[in-house]
Amino acid sequence: MGEKRICVRGGTVVNAADEFRADILLEGERIALLGRDLDMDADETIDATGKYVFPGGIDMHTHLDMPFFATATSDDFHTGTAAACAGGTTSVIDFAIQAKGESLASTLETWKAKAKGKAVGDYGFHMAVTDLTDAVLAEIPEMVALGVPSMKLFLAYKGALMVSDEDFFRTLVTAGENGALVMVHAENGDVIDHLQRKFLSEGKTEPRYHALSRPPAIEGEATGRAIALAEVAGAPLYVVHVTCREAVERIREAQDRGLPVHGETCPQYLYLSYENYLEPGFEGAKYVMSPPLRDASNQAVLWKALGDGTLEILSSDHAPFRMADQKILGKDDFSKIPNGAGGIESRLYLLWTGGVEEGRISRKKFVDLVSAAPARRFGLYPRKGVIAPGSDADLVVWDPTVEHVLSAEAHHMAVDFNPFEGIRVKGRPEWVFRRGETVGRSGNPVGEAGSGEFLPR
Ligand code: URP
Ligand code: ZN
Ligand code: ZN
Repeated sequence: MGEKRICVRGGTVVNAADEFRADILLEGERIALLGRDLDMDADETIDATGKYVFPGGIDMHTHLDMPFFATATSDDFHTGTAAACAGGTTSVIDFAIQAKGESLASTLETWKAKAKGKAVGDYGFHMAVTDLTDAVLAEIPEMVALGVPSMKLFLAYKGALMVSDEDFFRTLVTAGENGALVMVHAENGDVIDHLQRKFLSEGKTEPRYHALSRPPAIEGEATGRAIALAEVAGAPLYVVHVTCREAVERIREAQDRGLPVHGETCPQYLYLSYENYLEPGFEGAKYVMSPPLRDASNQAVLWKALGDGTLEILSSDHAPFRMADQKILGKDDFSKIPNGAGGIESRLYLLWTGGVEEGRISRKKFVDLVSAAPARRFGLYPRKGVIAPGSDADLVVWDPTVEHVLSAEAHHMAVDFNPFEGIRVKGRPEWVFRRGETVGRSGNPVGEAGSGEFLPR
């Protein structure tokens, strides 16, 4: 028996570079053909009339099954990637976090084991380097050869994930020599640590002090420092989860000087603000993430940076923790609230609604931000990130007319709250294909656990 053939008929194909009416023939795991009024036999025909068809979303910043703050993120590779697929994201790149004393090779095996047999979407990994030794540095070429050519280093989370400037610099040099990309969590961990202890000693324990101990100036400072060190090392740099004017300005200035400095932001920084920390009781804990939510004036800065290309990707930084038994660990001490929130499922809804529907970005730019740019930057293009013959049959058939309200009740992430609760969004993935298999239907997950594959890059 030949490979299954699916014809997606009558839709408007949206790629980052162009938008056109075409039928699409999927053959097995790949896109076989694009054309007007294709006259082909198919095992299944999808009517995409009135709908947009774009490449599957790629979320290159997720934390699934990640040990963090005396607990672990509540979505594993099954629940997390199933929810991602329901929302139109068919691939993720997750962070494999090096434990103290562990080799990178062993870290990669640990994370592969977490995903195998569970993932619905396809998955790759970045290495999170937390304990740099000469031996670990020497593993970087091997990581590149194994398909993990990117690594995140943290300039914050003192006493846990944070690395010194020296270790950050040494990694930049070796990564640059080996064609790997260093990603940076840019906040000044020493200053945060000092401010946290100061607030706690004054009895200031509520969630809002999380934000007050991490002001935008120290994100700007760490972003500028990381750029300076990358420039001296002669290496490219990618700044994750950018939240504020202070950081955007440093990135833009570096780009204006021709430096290979790139960055992303996340929907929470476009939609939410410092005001959320003031919600009654312990509700502010829902929004404890790092860097923290900012004054709402930063939202326009970030939208502009996405629009003009200063920030090239919208990722979720999906790091969900339940309120009931996880966020509550910091009830009497904001510094013990697990940092992060869930958004792997809502990323496309929020960018479509706030971006395309609000007239801030075009549909092509939308596709670039959620799929094509992550594929290009992180070595998946053109296998992923584009609808073209020979590419993986990862497609989203998007109905722009359907509306719903984001909520914990309706979402599919394994977490008991949604930071975007109550926001009305427009547009919904009616069909989601991952390598030719249906993994999402009308906003619901329908894929099989374990059908996702490792993506060496
Ligand atoms: O608060 C966050 N962002 N948690 C996940 C870890 C990180 O720093 O990306
Ligand atoms: Zn981070
Ligand atoms: Zn993160």
